Amino acid sequence: MKLGIVILAAGQGTRMKSDLPKVLHELAGRPLLQHVIDTARVLDPTRIVVVYGHAGERVREVIQGEDLVWAEQEEQLGTGHALDQALPHLGEMDQVLVLYGDVPLITEQTLRRLIDSTGQDFGLLTVTLENPAGYGRVQRDPNGSVSSIVEQKDASPEQLLIQEINTGIMLLPYSRLKVWLDRLENDNAQGEYYLTDVLAMAVAEDIPVRVANPWDPVEAEGVNNRVQLAALERALQRRQAEALMVNGVTLRDPARIDVRGTLKHGRDCVLDVNVIIEGEVHLGDNVRIGANTVLRDCQVHDRAEILENCVIEQAEVGGGSRVGPFSRLRPGAMLVGNNHVGNFVEIKKSDIGEGSKVNHLTYVGDSEIGTGVNIGAGTITCNYDGANKHKTVIGDNAFIGSNTALVAPVNIGQGATIGAGSVIGKDAPDGELTLTRAKQTTIPNWQRPKKTPKK
Ligand code: UD1
Ligand code: CA
Repeated sequence: MKLGIVILAAGQGTRMKSDLPKVLHELAGRPLLQHVIDTARVLDPTRIVVVYGHAGERVREVIQGEDLVWAEQEEQLGTGHALDQALPHLGEMDQVLVLYGDVPLITEQTLRRLIDSTGQDFGLLTVTLENPAGYGRVQRDPNGSVSSIVEQKDASPEQLLIQEINTGIMLLPYSRLKVWLDRLENDNAQGEYYLTDVLAMAVAEDIPVRVANPWDPVEAEGVNNRVQLAALERALQRRQAEALMVNGVTLRDPARIDVRGTLKHGRDCVLDVNVIIEGEVHLGDNVRIGANTVLRDCQVHDRAEILENCVIEQAEVGGGSRVGPFSRLRPGAMLVGNNHVGNFVEIKKSDIGEGSKVNHLTYVGDSEIGTGVNIGAGTITCNYDGANKHKTVIGDNAFIGSNTALVAPVNIGQGATIGAGSVIGKDAPDGELTLTRAKQTTIPNWQRPKKTPKK
């Protein structure tokens, strides 16, 4: 079957009260429209047409894809008019699926069920709601067959009592579409060309209407304001958290994790509260992530433990390592394995060899650190001279005393020891103690100044 998908996204989104077009507001780190497009793609359609209008250029800048065809709707004259704008871009199809740029949680499974149950007929996705206010109502005849859709603003008091609503998502036979859309009129309460009116046309032509329902009504919910945006964010986060738990991840509280990207993981990972995952994050087996930690585009290997309040971005934490609390790993930080990185340590673009430790109050940048190295508290690699970045190389089993400034470019030899409080600007040889420190003296009988007491 040749499936065409049309995503209606031309509406203004006035109630967002935003300079950003509504469909570019983000849910779990992706624009609303991107969610719909990603789901559409999984259905493997022959073509996807996006109908855009308001601030279309910005939408097209953000949403990319060579498979997308863009159709402009200059004036928003209604959903039927919107679909009509897509028609010339669609090409010959068997069926046309209509989706909405602001209904982001619709799932592949639900759409497949709609497609499978519709065949070559007319497919309609409906939901029965406790409170159907605002939606188009699904009218059925005495036999229970769907006969028409009535918009809220056009409905009689009896029709308003109907609880089955039109989600807007429909599967339409392409061969009838042109005729139906040409026949639409706008003599209704809103003066719009309603796409929903094609349903009655199908019924008049004896085309069977097949109704499907989503598993979860939230799939059909749209975003009109930021309250609804926040509600759908929570629903999506809950859905993602459940998938993680089902796949074997322990979440200390599934209501307090945010995944804005993808989290791949091995077995028996444990995530404490308020962990934020962004971009592509990969956890090995038995990884533990402490509370309030942000992981962004990074990898954490088997048995590594990230303690509380860390920020790890474009970095790699080798197996068996322990990082945090309060550590920051910046892009290019590579902990090879069994490393300890402690509080108030920042590491950028540096390799830290097997078993090496950087435990307290330290900045390591543009460095290559060997195995079994111990970096003392308050060590700074001075990698920047105001114009250029320079490299620090530290050999295996070196020991850097506390409060040392390593002025790059500089090499510290294997097994070298650097005395605490040194400023090292020249290479330090293997196996020796190197230090730069003024001799300690004691000044006899020196008196500390005293405050004169106030009268
Ligand atoms: C529509 C349905 C209603 C259904 C509801 C579900 C019609 C006439 N009514 O109503 O039965 O219950 O959705 O949420 O279809 N759009 C355009 N161009 C336009 C108008 C709309 O692209 O000219 C897009 C909007 O961006 C939006 C979608 O179509 O994504 C729905 O439009 P909206 O005005 O919100 O329709 P409703 O009145 O909510
Ligand atoms: Ca709407």
